Amino acid sequence: MSANVLFEPIAIGDMELKNRIAMAPMNPGYTGPFGYHSDQSTAWYAMRARGGFGLIITECVVMNPHRWGGQESLNPSLLTDERYYRFHSEMLDVLHHYKGVKVCIQLSPGWGRQGHPHAESRDCPAGAPSAIPMETDMRLLNKGWHKQLKRLAPPEIGHLLPDLETIQNMNDEEYSAFRMLVYEVLVKNMPDMAHVIFGDTPRALSIPEIIDLEDRFAAQARAAFLLGYDALEVHAPHGYLIHQFLSPRSNHRHDQYGGSLENRARFLINIVGKTREAVGPNKPLGVRLSGDELMPGGITHDEIKQVVAWCTDAGANFFDISQGSYENPGAAFAPDGEDDYTRWAPGFKEASKGLPIITPNFINPETAAAAISSGKTDIISLGRQSIADPFWPVKAKEGRIKDIVKCVRCGKCYSDLMTAHWLGCTVNPLAGKEKLYPEFWLDTPELQNKVAKFMKRAHGLPQI
Ligand SMILES: Cc1cc2nc3c(=O)[nH]c(=O)nc-3n(C[C@H](O)[C@H](O)[C@H](O)COP(=O)(O)O)c2cc1C
Repeated sequence: MSANVLFEPIAIGDMELKNRIAMAPMNPGYTGPFGYHSDQSTAWYAMRARGGFGLIITECVVMNPHRWGGQESLNPSLLTDERYYRFHSEMLDVLHHYKGVKVCIQLSPGWGRQGHPHAESRDCPAGAPSAIPMETDMRLLNKGWHKQLKRLAPPEIGHLLPDLETIQNMNDEEYSAFRMLVYEVLVKNMPDMAHVIFGDTPRALSIPEIIDLEDRFAAQARAAFLLGYDALEVHAPHGYLIHQFLSPRSNHRHDQYGGSLENRARFLINIVGKTREAVGPNKPLGVRLSGDELMPGGITHDEIKQVVAWCTDAGANFFDISQGSYENPGAAFAPDGEDDYTRWAPGFKEASKGLPIITPNFINPETAAAAISSGKTDIISLGRQSIADPFWPVKAKEGRIKDIVKCVRCGKCYSDLMTAHWLGCTVNPLAGKEKLYPEFWLDTPELQNKVAKFMKRAHGLPQI
């Protein structure tokens, strides 16, 4: 299979993409204090822009200004405070040096019950649709997660972790004893990790609070386009706040935001509708959704298809696929292999009446090209593979397949994030150190030309 299909242009709204290869949204945890972008954030994206990605989808950016909103974690923010605007526009200025590269911001109203604890907000429970805590079923871990739990466990307790197969096959009684043991060990030794697996109990948001978030979202989306973002994606997958409204597992409300699917989808549909109104008719406005929650009693693929249809009517003009939630981390975000998500793409295509669809989870150009050639998806995105090799698109274009450094699905990137470390990678020694190696990315012909001209003039200056 030729990789040529990956390099065909495609349009979404008023945005022309030079190829079908997107960088999947990934939070690498490089954000500085208060959620400002750091120089490393800019360098991290710039290296991928230099590597040939046609579309860079940013890590999830939070617009929720409340103390429970999500800024306590390592994501950047886009709050109405204009100091945030400066960092976003500085980053965009650098990224737009790269010919034809488009940048899509992933914007979120927050984490809800999947929020992480913070020293300053322990007395301030996260707002969610209902006061129901999340909990990861560790029987649903996969190889990558298991490996990392083993790596992170202090030596004196590492031996208590059974092998993956034993955990996966535990019956309810065995699991309940194991769960208790893990809980005690984590709370004592790794409290950060404990809250990722056993979430805190949130509080139910009031209706005025929900409407305020919808309105603020639309206002910040408009600001994002004014700052220079080319596209915007609403963050609605993975069990985070919007997903919590969609899912009957986490939404037990009895008002207009709970109960029927139409009510559970209201928060998302209002966000899409209000945003479309705020940004005008032609801007690329997408929604990222889990194709299926993959949990008992969670939102199903058939229901998601209906939500996709409503989002389309409300003004969305592309979709980005994911799956699962924190409660099922093996399926969500980090499958051990590749091409596990394309199965949802036909449902999204049909429900959106043919809108462009983005699908992640690839390693090999051949598999990625086949997903597009099959007509199931239009754009492929690389998450962990873009960490392992920022230059994947250029290498795929030049047929240098053997030079591609492949992601080994070890899970290190994720666990670095979960344990509040600077994200690194087992196979790419530059990941997390991009700002120290500008020779790998700060070399666009246009910029070099400008610098050369400037230097020529500077050389004529008199000595002081
Ligand atoms: C370190 C890390 C951070 C992530 N952060 C986000 C995020 O901010 N928003 C999001 O929608 N998905 C996030 N994801 C999920 C990815 O976008 C992607 O769906 C997932 O990694 C599966 O694709 P892959 O197999 O190509 O890596 C993250 C994944 C990783 C590995």
